[in-house]
Amino acid sequence: MKRDDIELNGSKILKLALLSYSQQNLEALRRVVSSWDGAVAITGTDGGLELAAPLAEQERPDVLVVDSRCEHAGDLAALETTTARFPAMTVILLCPNASPELLRDAMRIGVRELLSAPPDAHALLAALERVRQRLDLNKPSRKAGRIMSWIACKGGSGATFLASNFAFALAAPESKRVALIDLNLQFGDAALFLSDQAPQTTLSELVREIRRLDSALLVSSMIHVTPHCHVLAAPDNLEEASLIKPEHLDTLLSVAASHYDYVVLDLGRSLDALSLRALDKSETIFLVIQLTLPFIRDCKRLIHALNALGYSRDRLSLVVNRYEKGGDISIQDAERVLGQKIARIVPNSYRAVAASVNQGVPLLKLAPRDAVSRALAELAETVEAPAKPGGWLRDIFRR
Ligand SMILES: Nc1ncnc2c1ncn2[C@@H]1O[C@H](COP(=O)(O)OP(=O)(O)OP(=O)(O)O)[C@@H](O)[C@H]1O
Ligand SMILES: [Mg+2]
Repeated sequence: MKRDDIELNGSKILKLALLSYSQQNLEALRRVVSSWDGAVAITGTDGGLELAAPLAEQERPDVLVVDSRCEHAGDLAALETTTARFPAMTVILLCPNASPELLRDAMRIGVRELLSAPPDAHALLAALERVRQRLDLNKPSRKAGRIMSWIACKGGSGATFLASNFAFALAAPESKRVALIDLNLQFGDAALFLSDQAPQTTLSELVREIRRLDSALLVSSMIHVTPHCHVLAAPDNLEEASLIKPEHLDTLLSVAASHYDYVVLDLGRSLDALSLRALDKSETIFLVIQLTLPFIRDCKRLIHALNALGYSRDRLSLVVNRYEKGGDISIQDAERVLGQKIARIVPNSYRAVAASVNQGVPLLKLAPRDAVSRALAELAETVEAPAKPGGWLRDIFRR
């Protein structure tokens, strides 16, 4: 199983597993490595070297720190089976009185570092830092995926429909991997807009596994609408939803952005600690309105609140949905009241959209020539290549 990188400020964060024959040593080791900002998901087990393989199997760590008495000839052999099975994992072995022969044998079986036990805290942290630097150097330079959020200015604006079909449109060229994550914890229904499959795993179930979350686990927890477009469903009920904390989102979004080119979030319409954490990580925040007064009123409040929370107007992208020419309120009226340009217009297309929503089939698949499909495909294109003026010009002509 492959484990993609979790990054902090461009550097890989290591997932560590600790194994010691003594509970006391284990706690001491845990204290040392916890003081280091390069580690995440530190797990520990007290027991002999026979536990190394099951621990590696369960946790898939980047680094396994093994504290052993190194007394028996068979000790290294037990470790050798582990290093052979998990060649990408770095093993640091702690031994009291390590002889040159032991050092040589340990290296031969794939132990990268041998430190004396109990380890000097600096020596252990320096060894971990060397591992991190090596993994950073080995890492193919892949930019983190782009995170984009969708919020409804008011219920029923079409935010979920647009977010899900936008995610599908981004994945359509098949060169990009896209994750749609339903963060509407109360009324999440995004998965239903793209698929009729029942989700195997929801966001709350994944959060229970957050300590061992990596891209392989994330990908296997999602509904695969196409090979490149995956959806993580919202929790089934409010009780489950209450398990999800802002710090879980940090890990989830880091892992998602390390694997996917785009991470599209449906935030529903609440501003709370969770959605703010998601917004902090979003380069663009799409706000969905329709051209009627109640929508515009709520949208004005929402823009005001977002500005007050420090999200600048250039990160907000206003999308008018279900647009029909000749309505009471024009695009220019809305822009004047909101004090913000409308970035995108998506027309009304009742029949086609209702068919897509009822069948759980993406609109771009069901009716690729529909005006709404074209608008979403253009939006995806613009996001992919922001410098291209075509989409914007077309919008101007459409007004
Ligand atoms: N462009 C469109 N043309 C026609 N109908 C649309 C369009 N966009 C959305 N709809 C319809 O509006 C309904 C509500 O959309 P959606 O559930 O996406 O809204 P929402 O803003 O996410 O609402 P909620 O606040 O309940 O989460 C959809 O079921 C769909 O039928
Ligand atoms: Mg919704």
